[in-house]
Amino acid sequence: MVVFLVGFMGCGKSSIGKKLANSTDWKFVDMDNIIESRVSISISEIFNIKGEAWFRALEREVLNEFVDQKNIIVATGGGVPCFGDNMDIMNQIGHTIYFKVSTENLFGRLKRGRENRPKIKELNDVELLTFIEETLSPREVFYNKASLLIDCDGVTEEYIASHIKSYLSHKLV
Ligand code: S3P
Repeated sequence: MVVFLVGFMGCGKSSIGKKLANSTDWKFVDMDNIIESRVSISISEIFNIKGEAWFRALEREVLNEFVDQKNIIVATGGGVPCFGDNMDIMNQIGHTIYFKVSTENLFGRLKRGRENRPKIKELNDVELLTFIEETLSPREVFYNKASLLIDCDGVTEEYIASHIKSYLSHKLV
């Protein structure tokens, strides 16, 4: 089974995915890391040199490669579900879990995590808040197609990881 963690930048996909993998025998991968090692440049450099459309095509290619994989937890980039029919593909290949985080909490987290995120790295705080406000709701149309939605505000990463484990254990029987 393949488990795709989806949600806005900064919602905790990678850190919770690693926790989940540590407490199971599942492998954890981060799509951004796969892409970076495939082309040997950072996500920011990909956006600068190749452009966003090229990046989105590569995301799509990498996504399709999960079809034959087993017992793997995938942290997707925040834009993956929102292009083409990527969300439908993920729902066909495996389970999708949306980490829902409020605009306010995303802002708090992303203020400290702008460096390798080309879509926000050059924004000041006011612009960052506006970006989240304007981008989250159209993206949620796609995120909400996930098979499980977890409201992540005010709960610990450990709680979220154990919630996912129990959800998946019911899916496996
Ligand atoms: C993006 C999210 C990033 C990365 C790229 C674009 C987006 O991943 O794929 O910077 O469009 O939301 P994270 O969600 O892991 O930050």
